[in-house]
Amino acid sequence: MPIVSDTDTDTEPFVSNARPTGPGPRPTDSGPQHTGSSPRLTGSGPQSRGEPDPAVESLPAGSDSGLDSGSGLDSDPATMIDPGSADLIFREAHTPTRFADRPVDEQVLREIHDLVKWAPTSMNTQPMRITLVQGEANLARLLPHLSPGNRAKVAAAPLTVLISADRNFHDQLPIVFPHNPDARRIFDNEVLRERTAVFNTALQLGYFILGARSLGLAVGPMTGLDTAGATGEFFPDGSRQVLAVVTLGYPEPGAHHPRNPRLTYEQVVDVAG
Ligand SMILES: Cc1cc2nc3c(=O)[nH]c(=O)nc-3n(C[C@H](O)[C@H](O)[C@H](O)COP(=O)(O)O)c2cc1C
Repeated sequence: MPIVSDTDTDTEPFVSNARPTGPGPRPTDSGPQHTGSSPRLTGSGPQSRGEPDPAVESLPAGSDSGLDSGSGLDSDPATMIDPGSADLIFREAHTPTRFADRPVDEQVLREIHDLVKWAPTSMNTQPMRITLVQGEANLARLLPHLSPGNRAKVAAAPLTVLISADRNFHDQLPIVFPHNPDARRIFDNEVLRERTAVFNTALQLGYFILGARSLGLAVGPMTGLDTAGATGEFFPDGSRQVLAVVTLGYPEPGAHHPRNPRLTYEQVVDVAG
């Protein structure tokens, strides 16, 4: 399996190897003004690099990008995320180039899990598994499987986890999907089982990133690795399929690349027919 990507400006789509192998309180601070900055992140907001391209979404630094400008929303404010929180997990959050020199306690992972376990997956399958890679010996097992550009980042991270798909997630269905006693049998179809595991693990990884950001962490997801090699190293029985490595730490102000442009609504949304 070739290594798929090794740079900071990684643009690979999600790549998988072919080897089969109680909710917290709802925010109620819904003040009418968008603050434009998060209380906990001091990095810059959305910004452009080089010549502005009208085909992409790229607001100049300092622009107001709040939900309140020209919003067509008709939601009860009590059911909406407040603008500062939206800054924290979306607008001002960045993939870090390094972390603050501060350890991350394993308890933090428990708190992330307590949030993101509520996220939806197909048939409530929840196939994502998280493996802490702790200690020099375990790190040494992982590093050779990473693309060269990712090794130093992982070696320097306060906490690194492996994200894998549980290929036997369907064993849990009698517990997590109890109202359908036949649910497990649907996944006797191995192709469907693998597709469901990979798709929903990727989805859960997205929730995991947002959950970690919501607790004030910076998150470095990486798919630039030999996933088959890492799977063989850590899960030789084939029960799991490694999809990604994620580094976690506390954010260091400014330790990120300039924001790359995002596609516009018009580029992304169309109408069927
Ligand atoms: C699934 C996934 C895989 C990624 N893989 C890598 C990687 O292997 N190496 C790397 O340096 N960055 C990786 N990234 C980081 C992306 O390049 C980065 O999140 C993206 O460019 C957006 O940057 P921003 O958060 O600063 O706006 C990955 C991100 C995601 C979500």
